[in-house]
Amino acid sequence: MPELLWTCLIIAALSLALAADSQLPPIVYDENEVPEYTLPDPLVCEDGSPVSDAETWRSKRRPEVLELFRTQMFGRAPGRPPQLRFEVIETDSRALGGLATRKQIAISPTGNRADVYFDLLVYLPNECRRPVPLFLGLNFNGNQAVHVDSGIRLAHSWMRENPDGGVVDHRATEAARATEASRWQVEMVLRRGYGLATMYYGDIDPDYDDGFGNGVHPFFRAAGQTQPAADEWGSIAAWAWGLSRALDYCETDGDIDAGRVAVIGHSRLGKTALWAGAEDERFALVISNNSGCGGAALSRRHFGETVLRINTAFPHWFCDNFLQYNEQEGTLPIDQHELIALSAPRPVYVASAEEDRWADPRGEFLSCLHADPVYRLLGTTGLPATEMPGLNQPVQGTIGYHIRTGEHDVTAYDWEQYLAFSDAHLRR
Ligand code: GCU
Repeated sequence: MPELLWTCLIIAALSLALAADSQLPPIVYDENEVPEYTLPDPLVCEDGSPVSDAETWRSKRRPEVLELFRTQMFGRAPGRPPQLRFEVIETDSRALGGLATRKQIAISPTGNRADVYFDLLVYLPNECRRPVPLFLGLNFNGNQAVHVDSGIRLAHSWMRENPDGGVVDHRATEAARATEASRWQVEMVLRRGYGLATMYYGDIDPDYDDGFGNGVHPFFRAAGQTQPAADEWGSIAAWAWGLSRALDYCETDGDIDAGRVAVIGHSRLGKTALWAGAEDERFALVISNNSGCGGAALSRRHFGETVLRINTAFPHWFCDNFLQYNEQEGTLPIDQHELIALSAPRPVYVASAEEDRWADPRGEFLSCLHADPVYRLLGTTGLPATEMPGLNQPVQGTIGYHIRTGEHDVTAYDWEQYLAFSDAHLRR
């Protein structure tokens, strides 16, 4: 297409986006403009009775809260499919100069790779006694983006067009290698005795609003159904479900200790990690990096990104029931501190970044603080802080939290904290 036409199209799209944005309420970036709110109490049941022991949390309150997140926010996912199949496509025991063993596995949820499949990339440290604990997380740009290692298979699924990032005609090319490498401290993790496993989130469901025609959704519909129902899985729930299928694989691999898998994610994939940890209690530890609205940040604060804004920009991320809370956060039967509490008593780490105001760092900290009573009830240390810590001063109990300097990203500093936290909880 001629360049002029492209320019006109881009200007038209930008004007439309600006026009739509100007119809939305202003973005709150000032603490004084945060509305008054009352959070739902995780330790009071729907019938008004208090939760005063671990057993009541486990058998009554936790299922209530989980069900609310399923039906009102993320949507219900189908569970482990009986046809699930794993094919180890490649193994190299001398990868990364001998530091690691690399395995690449095709995970087919329908048992047929022609339908849909996820490429799982696994690195295991060679100098360690197996089975090893492992970090598992989705990536944004394909497995080949996480490291220069030329043995990594190029992503096979649709990607957002990005010629500078090596994505041409919606496909990864050789130039798409290592474009996300700073976010995946592969050698650092391996040298500390952990494995690292990752999949491209677009293998599970391409991240655009296509009415759920692609990705995994079409293969798990009831007869005659064309769309997920208002309480059925959106994209975040599908990505989280994909993480559980990767964990299913880990259970079959004798080199991985599936009882010590930490699920990690950044931003939209941090929301996904929190939901995966809530839905699947096999995850031993949960890490949310800059997850913000719909992740660790309290919705009721209405700070930075709001429910209305996220539902407008990303209508496919949540289930349709979530739309009723646009500008009505006060009527949500849940808030995000309870998403964190769903991981209790398992360790959970929430990280913010100073310049990432869109994700509301203070709201992320407050979620941890208000999840703490559940952690304490269950006999853990919870969050060892009552005030938000200063910059680059992590607090780590069974809940960990830090706010670092810098922008929305995953950095080596973040990984150092995750490793220290994991050493405290997952080391044997
Ligand atoms: C957007 C979106 C956030 C999300 C982020 C990301 O900024 O508004 O909710 O976390 O993208 O995933 O990078």
